[in-house]
Amino acid sequence: MSDLAGQVRDGYAFDGPALDLGALVVDGRGDPGAKVRIPLGMLNRHGLVAGATGTGKTKTLQVMAEQLSAAGVPVFLADIKGDVSGMSVAGTANEKITARAAEIGQDWQPVAYPVEFYALGGHGTGIPVRATITSFGPVLLSKVLGLSDVQSSSLNLIFHFADANGLPLLDIKDLRSVIQYLVSDEGAEQLRSLGGLSKQTAGVLLRELVAFSDAGADDFFGEPEFDTADLMRTAPDGRGVASILELPGVVAQPALFSSFLMWLLADLFQDLPEVGDVDKPKLVFFFDEAHLLFKDASKDFLESITQTVRLIRSKGVGVFFVTQTPKDVHPDVLAQLGNRVQHALRAYTPDDAKALKATASTFPRSAYDLEEVLTQLGTGEAIVTVLSENGAPTPVAWTRLCAPRSLMGAADAAAMTAAVKGSSLYPKYAEPVDRESAYEKLAARVAPPSTGSYPQGSTAPDAPPAQSYPQGDKPPKAQKDEPNMVEKVLGSTATKSFVRAAATAAGAAIARQIFGTAKRRRR
Ligand SMILES: Nc1ncnc2c1ncn2[C@@H]1O[C@H](COP(=O)(O)OP(=O)(O)OP(=O)(O)O)[C@@H](O)[C@H]1O
Ligand SMILES: [Mg+2]
Repeated sequence: MSDLAGQVRDGYAFDGPALDLGALVVDGRGDPGAKVRIPLGMLNRHGLVAGATGTGKTKTLQVMAEQLSAAGVPVFLADIKGDVSGMSVAGTANEKITARAAEIGQDWQPVAYPVEFYALGGHGTGIPVRATITSFGPVLLSKVLGLSDVQSSSLNLIFHFADANGLPLLDIKDLRSVIQYLVSDEGAEQLRSLGGLSKQTAGVLLRELVAFSDAGADDFFGEPEFDTADLMRTAPDGRGVASILELPGVVAQPALFSSFLMWLLADLFQDLPEVGDVDKPKLVFFFDEAHLLFKDASKDFLESITQTVRLIRSKGVGVFFVTQTPKDVHPDVLAQLGNRVQHALRAYTPDDAKALKATASTFPRSAYDLEEVLTQLGTGEAIVTVLSENGAPTPVAWTRLCAPRSLMGAADAAAMTAAVKGSSLYPKYAEPVDRESAYEKLAARVAPPSTGSYPQGSTAPDAPPAQSYPQGDKPPKAQKDEPNMVEKVLGSTATKSFVRAAATAAGAAIARQIFGTAKRRRR
């Protein structure tokens, strides 16, 4: 084994800065002379942190996130169990921590890190994160709604229709009103011209969206939309800000949660410039409960994930997937994860045994009997291999990991609330805004341009798109030929300036990206 200690010492001796993961375990003890590390410059080669429940995955993230922050790199983490929030509070020494630190040669000090708390749609303690429907796009929305292939291609057509006709889809009611318009008598011709969208499927989509709204989803979609540039911040002292998405009760809406994480990634991808290989990453994104993303994913969806993960690397963003076994991650994505921290696996059931075998086979060759070792690892220990600075895998090392310097566990709830309310980002995102968009535009078409009252019912929340355009209520410059609804909306001076302002969010200027997500006009 001492031979292995030498290999590890050499294999993990990097020229540039690196994160300390821990030390090699030799004969059951950490060997401070054989440190196990990840080069900062290799974090954009992505990674996987895996292991059974309670084996130390979250603490591994915390250890990595702390050192990234200290190195000036912002990080993003999802806090599923509430125990990541402790990063904002200095840890307290105890016997276990002191013993662990001494054994592996870690210079342990209690440290609190700069943190920003977020919450999807404001559900939970955090600055509300919302996306507009248009930028979320049809692909991710289909995933959230669990649509069939036919339904999801129909949703695609509806987005195209709205994009091409200057109907901004900011919230769910915008999308509903566009569909309602298309299934109305007035929209019949346009529905036909779309081709491939049946009235029946449109009706199903409408019902899905109503149920989605009823389930509380309106809070997640709309404005102000979260600007992913806010994830790229550093604190005044130069440390990277840890953005922590608080996700209580996420288990209830797994598809929503994983799609939102994917949206954040896709949006970052769109906005960030190419930087090629960098000395240190621009951001490291920890994608927790990653199995949810791949569950029931269509082929197109998988391709989009694979492509985003592959391409975001050259934008300086590292993505670490966190899940129980490598089997949870699609092979095409797994193949791109250069850094591996595998905590203990259980071998209770035949399925466990299969996962164990498969996991062992994904590691480079080593002297370990991995199928055996993976079931023997203690808490806070892992099998590690990373990419060295020249891109070759480092020796496989049974590692005892460093202890987090911040609190292991949840931060105080009152302190978190105070931090959120006191954040400089709070005023920007706290209150939802309902700007003029497709719903209002479609509702407005039934209104006379200058005089007269709105027709009965045109202000009823669900009614507008179904209203017919009253004869004689044409905009002033209406031609002999009845202009279609969109021309009417565009022709009205009241909406013209808005339409111009929305030009990048509508019409030809909308360039839907890998995930069908759209670029916004905020920057
Ligand atoms: N690196 C570490 N240093 C010190 N203690 C650790 C470390 N890793 C794990 N532990 C101990 O093990 C416990 C469980 O670790 P952790 O919460 O990270 O597990 P997990 O794999 O994230 O579990 P789950 O799947 O349930 O989220 C911690 O509360 C802590 O007491
Ligand atoms: Mg955990």
